[in-house]
Amino acid sequence: MARATKVLVFAGSARTGSLNKKLARVAVDALREAGGEPTLLDLADYPMPIYEGDLEAREGVPRAARELREIFRAHPALLVVSPENNASVPALLKNTIDWLSRPTGGENGLVPYQGKVAALMAASPGALGGMRGLVHLRQILQALNVLVIPEQFALPRAHEAFDAAGALADAKQQATVNGIARRLVEVAARLAPS
Ligand SMILES: Cc1cc2nc3c(=O)[nH]c(=O)nc-3n(C[C@H](O)[C@H](O)[C@H](O)COP(=O)(O)O)c2cc1C
Repeated sequence: MARATKVLVFAGSARTGSLNKKLARVAVDALREAGGEPTLLDLADYPMPIYEGDLEAREGVPRAARELREIFRAHPALLVVSPENNASVPALLKNTIDWLSRPTGGENGLVPYQGKVAALMAASPGALGGMRGLVHLRQILQALNVLVIPEQFALPRAHEAFDAAGALADAKQQATVNGIARRLVEVAARLAPS
């Protein structure tokens, strides 16, 4: 039997009570049900300075970015659940993506991204659910040679969307998350080298 597809799941927020982390946890369960093998990661555990060329020349790529690069390398699929800040990608997420795209240890900057499949989700207390940020996130990842599947999910009024156990109260929203998880696992499996 083929190995289960490993999917790296993380939120674009490091906040303890993050709504995007909550949605990421829902997505992890959905991925497992879809036959994937999710790894849930918290960007709070990978603190990095804001990218700056002089700092890079002086100190190299930060250890957290090098560690994260290795974790990316071990996962053919990504599921990113990100808030929207001023209609775009939060600085934390963009900074992480940027550091990981730097040549490291003689390796090309595209190595953590190339050949990967990704799905995108967002959560926001607002009415649009963070969907405008996903437009930019899609563009950024595609520029790094990530295949981003067309299906995506933006959860509006996210502060009211979860029950006490952390599940999505709305069955339709849960079905959408499940569908995206299935599609991501399916596409990643089809693209896996045989
Ligand atoms: C600087 C800043 C800008 C924001 N801009 C938006 C925005 O454009 N659209 C939106 O829906 N929410 C916006 N928000 C609200 C965030 O979506 C909200 O704080 C969300 O809960 C953050 O994600 P988290 O709960 O995963 O930490 C903004 C918040 C901050 C701090």
